[in-house]
Amino acid sequence: MYTKIPIIPLAVIAVVVAAITAAQALIIDWLPPASTEQAERTFGLLWFLFWMSAVFFVIVTSILIYAIWKWRASDDDLEDGPPTHGNTKLEIVWTVVPSIALVIVAVYGYIVLERNEAVAADRITVDVYAQQFMWTYGYPEAGIETGTLVVPEGRQVQLNVRARDVIHDFWVPEFGIKGDAVPGITHTLWINPTKTGTYPVVCAELCGVGHSVMRSEVKVVSAKEYAAWLAKATARVKASTAAAAAATKLESAPGDVEAGKAVFEAKCSGCHADLGKTAGVGPAIVGSTLTTDQIRDQIKNGKGAMPGGLATGTDLADVVAFVESIK
Ligand code: CUA
Repeated sequence: MYTKIPIIPLAVIAVVVAAITAAQALIIDWLPPASTEQAERTFGLLWFLFWMSAVFFVIVTSILIYAIWKWRASDDDLEDGPPTHGNTKLEIVWTVVPSIALVIVAVYGYIVLERNEAVAADRITVDVYAQQFMWTYGYPEAGIETGTLVVPEGRQVQLNVRARDVIHDFWVPEFGIKGDAVPGITHTLWINPTKTGTYPVVCAELCGVGHSVMRSEVKVVSAKEYAAWLAKATARVKASTAAAAAATKLESAPGDVEAGKAVFEAKCSGCHADLGKTAGVGPAIVGSTLTTDQIRDQIKNGKGAMPGGLATGTDLADVVAFVESIK
């Protein structure tokens, strides 16, 4: 029976094992800089788990190495070892200590989860859409959609992660969050950005041939910059909606046949010969059974060999009127 603890050899081994363990933890840059409150807490928990495991690892490994060296069998020793009964005191210790450790980790983990998912009343909501192979971000309050996620510093953002086709996974390493985008399910994530900067958005679920290039960016900007960006993006959407409405109005207004004839000569008569009376590259227009809406649509969007966009706005209205007059 071995009763005296060999403190010096054990201590020497422990120092070496601890140095190697600490070195690989400290020398390698394992985690990106935490850029949200959630990442700070999660990374803190991760390092707590690591160092706690490291302590047990050093104790167990040191004893193991010492035992292998001290009680190794000599080459000519073919005997069975003596039967040993075990050590009740030791067994109680190695059951109770890990149990306490587990409870500590569970409580710490619960606190982190609770705080990371505490919802703020003044949060901003952003819809995150995943599809093969791109990310789109919708701001429901402003009615805009972007290809880059823009969020303000110092305010909570709720991300409603959704998939438009297959399963993807929204991951921003610096944010310390990662969430599956599953068709038919809205996965809610919360972030409280703490550092301005541009960070990568990575798809972390194999979703098809373009999975590895399914990247995007998130910009964390100051509250002031965010307000300015949002106002600008909203104004742009409004302007383009208004412009589209105005263009539609111009196109659909009653056109002038004479002006339309001039447009036809310039843009259409290359294919529709003799002012549309005979077939050239394109068919004759005289005798066409298309309705006004169909004519307008075909000039706008093209059909078959005919390209779209030959006339727009008032020109389009005029040429439609001319075609109507000869068909
Ligand atoms: Cu989307 Cu991988």
